[in-house]
Amino acid sequence: MRIAIASDHAAVALKTALADWLRGQGHEVDDLGTDGDASVDYPDFGYKLAAHVAAGKAARGIALCGTGIGISIAVNRNPAVRCALVSEPLSAALSREHNDANILAMGARVIGIEMAKACLTAFLTTPFGGERHAKRVAKLGIAQA
Ligand code: RB5
Repeated sequence: MRIAIASDHAAVALKTALADWLRGQGHEVDDLGTDGDASVDYPDFGYKLAAHVAAGKAARGIALCGTGIGISIAVNRNPAVRCALVSEPLSAALSREHNDANILAMGARVIGIEMAKACLTAFLTTPFGGERHAKRVAKLGIAQA
């Protein structure tokens, strides 16, 4: 799967660790930055990630900042994507099954690398449930394939 990932300065280490882990599993990863410790603004990276996924350049996205809150808000300004902020795997799985989320947000100052990997595994392996959930998801914005 091609997966895009973006973060602000607060989550660069988590972004690098997750990107390496995903590549090790055979995924293709588009790293949209940021790349260093210099302070940046999470909306810039959230908007960039949302546009990338909305354009079909990646099947899924991962949005990271200190809490995951700011960048998830930014991503969800784009009506063509659905971003879920999670900190445990059950919510990550249900974000796929019920909400057809295509971008997962997490907070580097909230969860550790192993919990992030568990959330990501649930997110990448759980299918959308369709049926009664489909009409609700359709009301959220522009439908994604
Ligand atoms: C940056 O210090 C921090 O505000 C940001 O990473 C994020 O937590 C905002 O929601």
